[in-house]
Amino acid sequence: MSLVQEIDYGTPRSRATKEVTLTIDGQSVTVPEGTSIMRAAMELGTKIPKLCATDMLDAFGSCRLCLVEIDGRAGTPASCTTPVAAGMVVRTQTDRLKRLRRGVMELYISDHPLDCLTCSANGDCELQDMAGAVGLRDVRYGYAGEKHPNPGKDESNPYFTYDPSKCIVCSRCVRACEEVQGTFALTIAGRGFESVVSPGMQESFLGSECVSCGACVQVCPTATLNEKSVIEIGTSEHSVVTTCAYCGVGCSFKAEMRGDEVVRMVPYKDGKANRGHSCVKGRFAWGYATHRERILKPMIRAKVSDPWREVSWDEAIAHAASELKRIQAKYGKGSIGGITSSRCTDEETFLVQKLIRGGFGTNNVDTCARVCHSPTGYGLSTTFGTSAGTQDFDSVEHTDIAMLIGANPTDAHPVFASRLKKRLRQGAKLIVIDPRAIDLVDKTPHVKAAHHLPLLPGTNVAVLTALAHVIVTEGLVNEQFVRERCDWDEFQHWAEFVSLPQNSPEAVAKVSGVPAETIRKAARLYATGGNGAIYYGLGVTEHSQGSTTVMAIANLAMATGNIGRRGVGVNPLRGQNNVQGSCDMGSFPHELSGYRHISGDATRQLFEALWGVTLEKEPGLRINNMLDAAVDGTFKGIYIQGEDILQSDPDTKHVAAGLAAMECVIVQDLFLNETANYAHVFLPGSTFLEKNGTFINAERRIQLVRKVMAPRNGYEDWEITVLLAKAMGFDMHYDHPSQIMDEIARLTPTFAGVSFRRLEELGSIQWPCNEKAPEGTPVMHMNGFVRGKGRFMITEYIPTDERTGPRFPLLLTTGRILSQYNVGAQTRRTDNVVWHGEDRLEIHPHDAEQRGVRDGDWVKLASRAGETTLRALVTERVAPGVVYTTFHHPGTQANVITTDFSDWATNCPEYKVTAVQITPSNGPTDWQLKYEEQARQSRRIAPLEAAE
Ligand code: SF4
Ligand code: SF4
Ligand code: SF4
Ligand code: FES
Repeated sequence: MSLVQEIDYGTPRSRATKEVTLTIDGQSVTVPEGTSIMRAAMELGTKIPKLCATDMLDAFGSCRLCLVEIDGRAGTPASCTTPVAAGMVVRTQTDRLKRLRRGVMELYISDHPLDCLTCSANGDCELQDMAGAVGLRDVRYGYAGEKHPNPGKDESNPYFTYDPSKCIVCSRCVRACEEVQGTFALTIAGRGFESVVSPGMQESFLGSECVSCGACVQVCPTATLNEKSVIEIGTSEHSVVTTCAYCGVGCSFKAEMRGDEVVRMVPYKDGKANRGHSCVKGRFAWGYATHRERILKPMIRAKVSDPWREVSWDEAIAHAASELKRIQAKYGKGSIGGITSSRCTDEETFLVQKLIRGGFGTNNVDTCARVCHSPTGYGLSTTFGTSAGTQDFDSVEHTDIAMLIGANPTDAHPVFASRLKKRLRQGAKLIVIDPRAIDLVDKTPHVKAAHHLPLLPGTNVAVLTALAHVIVTEGLVNEQFVRERCDWDEFQHWAEFVSLPQNSPEAVAKVSGVPAETIRKAARLYATGGNGAIYYGLGVTEHSQGSTTVMAIANLAMATGNIGRRGVGVNPLRGQNNVQGSCDMGSFPHELSGYRHISGDATRQLFEALWGVTLEKEPGLRINNMLDAAVDGTFKGIYIQGEDILQSDPDTKHVAAGLAAMECVIVQDLFLNETANYAHVFLPGSTFLEKNGTFINAERRIQLVRKVMAPRNGYEDWEITVLLAKAMGFDMHYDHPSQIMDEIARLTPTFAGVSFRRLEELGSIQWPCNEKAPEGTPVMHMNGFVRGKGRFMITEYIPTDERTGPRFPLLLTTGRILSQYNVGAQTRRTDNVVWHGEDRLEIHPHDAEQRGVRDGDWVKLASRAGETTLRALVTERVAPGVVYTTFHHPGTQANVITTDFSDWATNCPEYKVTAVQITPSNGPTDWQLKYEEQARQSRRIAPLEAAE
């Protein structure tokens, strides 16, 4: 194995379609107009020396190392800032150029510490490389002269250091923070020789606006900005391209290794989702894989009050299988089920649902998408015919109006947010529909939302229907599109409905709190501003009308013709890394892979023939039904792979009661998570670094996950499922996950053309991929909707049953924060905790004052379902009457207070609306204390000798 080498072309690719031909060092080259001479030379394999240029950034032209000679032009222009021209004749290597370049390098080196042999970037330093490339043999000015100012090393960031003594003031870092990340955290302070890179107003990196994305570290040509892991371990000797296991953006990374130790994760420029960028989670927060709390040995116990007993894999698997068989014999086939993981690979997810349907003989399988994006599946398949986003991320580069609904991408989908911010800085307009003033509304440098609609939680459908009212009644419908592509009768019926006075902005203003004029302006902008793209998140789906809201979004896109080409579309921003894949793989109780209903005889027979079993025709139980049945005493055993339902599902007390009522709970995970407190069998899982397989991101992009180290627990997760299946008497045999994908492709028409070989060849594939689309489908519904005619749906606003009143006068809504991921099991076990050590309750100053709550005070957060305590953060980010918290820390138990109301179509829980009251508090509630004690007891592992 070797290091994956990516070519640095020096300047970004030109998008021009017209081409020009020129001559460089006697060789002819044809490139798009607007290409720099530097990049054109690189196309020929000629590396012109450079320091301030890199192809991730626009050309800057400050170092003067990349000089060339051009026939007919005076002087020696910089090749990075000079565009090619037809017939141009360029020379990159003449005596004059050599002399000039050496002179430039002499100046750099005379000011640079000469500690190359002990420098952490030794062997990976562009300054070193350039000294070699220009043939520098001597420095006439000596090394003892005046140096640039050196404010001292900054080690405040947990993941990288800043050592100004090595800085060559090339500004790459400043430009990366601006152009790629869009945070503008860095400046060059001082002038001329006194110039120095500075975070913010001469703060530390940790104290500045820096969000630790790592873009500046990646582009720094010297050791000035360097990963602490490289300083500690040394440079890498081989690398493997793989896919981030955190969010639904699906960033590609090079896992740079020394032996089986990860040295660093570097975003991969050829990754089509991230184009070489990353966020703090994927880039730096991988240390959980070797965290001391990771469980590496299987464990069993008779009762959850017993300590765990470490056993062999054979014993654990045999025990799990015999318990499941015993339960089925006693209580019936349907008394057990399982949950697939959106953190695991497609292949692993597919096998878990295969085991449950084929081995357990029941359709009692569900996935965490139930609690996040199940309404997306329902809403988009009803209106368009497919359960997925319509665009690729590149599409945003063609968007004129971005409408963001119930999503906070700078925190939850940061790399997509950076791409969106770039487009907004180029002039695209933004509409934000969200109860909170998220950063993109007005706290992001050089970005300001044209309209923010701060609606009351629970009123999405009313507001979206009011937008439609304006579009229809003001004659802004794209009639040609609707007549050609949609069912015209249904459209007319819908248009009549949205035009009703009760759906006017004036009427909706009363329920939503959004001024009518703001609704009107936003509707006009979306309908008339050019390419309109809608991006939405869990603020849309996690409501009692989640599916209705998704359909209201689809209606808007169809009515304005904003679907079926680049720059437009309807795009759910998926939460977990493989939530799209887990849905695609048939994790829902009513669907086989590719969203085909289990009751379809032809589909079922296809699976039955290949698997050699008879499948149940009726859909099985959803997660909440399994828990209800457990409380009722009819559901007794569950296999949960990579999912912490106790922390992530609503109404924690009910989840706990359901788990406690079961006779065999099998948890397969990396850590003893909260659900494992109720488990009888613990099967240690493997991390994404330890397995092969695929993830599917929010763009429907299937990407390879490649093993970079052997599983520390002994098995990849799919292998554990195979062992359990065999022990249950359902034989499966695979030597490699690629064979599982081959089976998926055989059984699933939208995956027919997918294989590991094709993924290796193409880098990634967006489904559908089949005979009609052998290289996949970046943009869907180009020439017609998948279901034929687009279907407008009536979206009547029905207020949630969760109402505020004198006892619970405030509305709680929940969300994520950049540094933490989901239930925090991974990120809490990394240095990311420096940014978010606890969940805080955001409360408006007016509401805080009324209750005598000051910033930082402990408060009791109570709902009809339960109560918890956490500390307050007094802020105007939330409107009066609305409070907000994240749910990353188990101590907070935010879901103790969320209710069991859910989406009418899919049972997706209504996390985003809970009526609550806030009162000052002295500390944790009785429930929190009891829970903590029980969790402590439950996590005990018997010493080995006692276990034997
Ligand atoms: S810190 Fe690195 S990238 Fe930034 S100016 Fe200095 S040498 Fe260039
Ligand atoms: S880590 Fe990212 S946000 Fe922080 S200074 Fe560097 S580029 Fe900017
Ligand atoms: S967490 Fe998401 S945005 Fe961050 S690196 Fe991973 S995939 Fe990319
Ligand atoms: S690389 Fe062209 S001026 Fe620096």
